[in-house]
Amino acid sequence: MTAHNPAAKKLFIKTYGCQMNVYDSQRMAEAMGAEGYVLTEDQADADMVLLNTCHIREKAAEKLYSDLGRLKPLKAARPDLKIGVAGCVAQAEGAEIIRRMPLVDLVVGPQTYHRLPAMVRGEAPAIDTDFPEEDKFDHLPAPRATRRAPAAFLTVQEGCDKFCAFCVVPYTRGAEVSRPAERILAEARDLAERGVREITLLGQNVNGWHGGPGGFGALIRSLGEIAGLERIRYTTSHPNDMADDLIEAHRDVPQLMPYLHLPVQSGSDRVLKAMNRKHTSDQYLRLIDRIRAARPDIVLTSDFIVGFPGETDEDHTDTLRLIERVGYGMAYSFKYSPRPGTPAFDRPEVDAAVADARLQELQALLTRQQHAVQEGMIGRTVTVLFEKAGREAGQMIGKSDYLHSVFVDTDQVQVGDLRAVRIIGSQRNSLHGELIAG
Ligand code: 5AD
Ligand code: SF4
Repeated sequence: MTAHNPAAKKLFIKTYGCQMNVYDSQRMAEAMGAEGYVLTEDQADADMVLLNTCHIREKAAEKLYSDLGRLKPLKAARPDLKIGVAGCVAQAEGAEIIRRMPLVDLVVGPQTYHRLPAMVRGEAPAIDTDFPEEDKFDHLPAPRATRRAPAAFLTVQEGCDKFCAFCVVPYTRGAEVSRPAERILAEARDLAERGVREITLLGQNVNGWHGGPGGFGALIRSLGEIAGLERIRYTTSHPNDMADDLIEAHRDVPQLMPYLHLPVQSGSDRVLKAMNRKHTSDQYLRLIDRIRAARPDIVLTSDFIVGFPGETDEDHTDTLRLIERVGYGMAYSFKYSPRPGTPAFDRPEVDAAVADARLQELQALLTRQQHAVQEGMIGRTVTVLFEKAGREAGQMIGKSDYLHSVFVDTDQVQVGDLRAVRIIGSQRNSLHGELIAG
């Protein structure tokens, strides 16, 4: 036991990237909790630093190496400090990470983090990027019976078989695997008993889930029967996996929130084909029409890649046209980043200045749409699940049905309350509301 830390050992986790990494970090914290580690927010005070990484774009991976560089003085001062790298960079780079950064003690991929405690004890190899037969979730300690925050993530599916030409996920997360329905329902019931009122089902291709009869729509219907679980969301979906039954669930299941993240990436058929997305812009638009027919108030969001190899001004205009046709509530847009090992890696790149200009134009349009949707909420009554106190006294923050952050000036609500709120204002990335009496 070290002098600076007389009590339990302390674990600091930094999470990069997507929501699935947030979920994985929680599960790793639980696994290490069984080994006597408690979480700390203070990296300088930690006995172990775990970086749970993202490999999706070059910038995300480079962030890991600069953070590792910054850990050098800490490791020099305290050689017993353990440094671990988890997540998708760990999967993609494996032993290369320790070669480049010898201060790293262990490297664990997203499918083997149940072995982390044994690795830390020195009872398992320090580098583990297997895709094992066994399911990590079967080997992780059950979450402890503590109260939870009102909104939680639940991973139901991992991996991807779609092989979009730009994307590392099929290589870092592996083939599509669905968790069985019984396990998911048991975890959801446990979360509901511990105070969770909203769950977001996670998967790289979440709507491709096939871990039980009836597919993903049927899973959502079963979750809708769990007492106390008032809201269900899911992310991220592929257009080709939007089955009729799932669209109907948006009409029939009151707990399923009117919000859908359905990335299209581009509005040009030529680019979609080069990306290997396996659908046209027209097919996507017709799908959107069917989803809106089932749930007219649904808020739609997407991801876009700008400057994919071969993208012309005309392709870019097609993307702007698709965006205008859909009217998104919010969207993420990225400049194409060539990733080693993906089919598009060697293709000639679009001029960087041209890609930058296109990105700006696209983002300006998406921002206008976001604000139009937010302003359209003014005067409407939504429900808000309150998640935390605001920075200013007497202010509470929660999420609306449509996933907008809503600020309310009130001392009448607590974290976990679900209340009717009238929207009275729209700021840049949030709404302002007032409680409705009663
Ligand atoms: N370059 C830029 N953006 C990418 N994305 C995935 N791979 C790349 C890449 N190589 C984006 C896609 C995806 C989101 C999670 O990240 O838009 O939907
Ligand atoms: Fe990547 Fe495409 Fe799979 Fe999404 S569907 S994870 S973008 S390969």
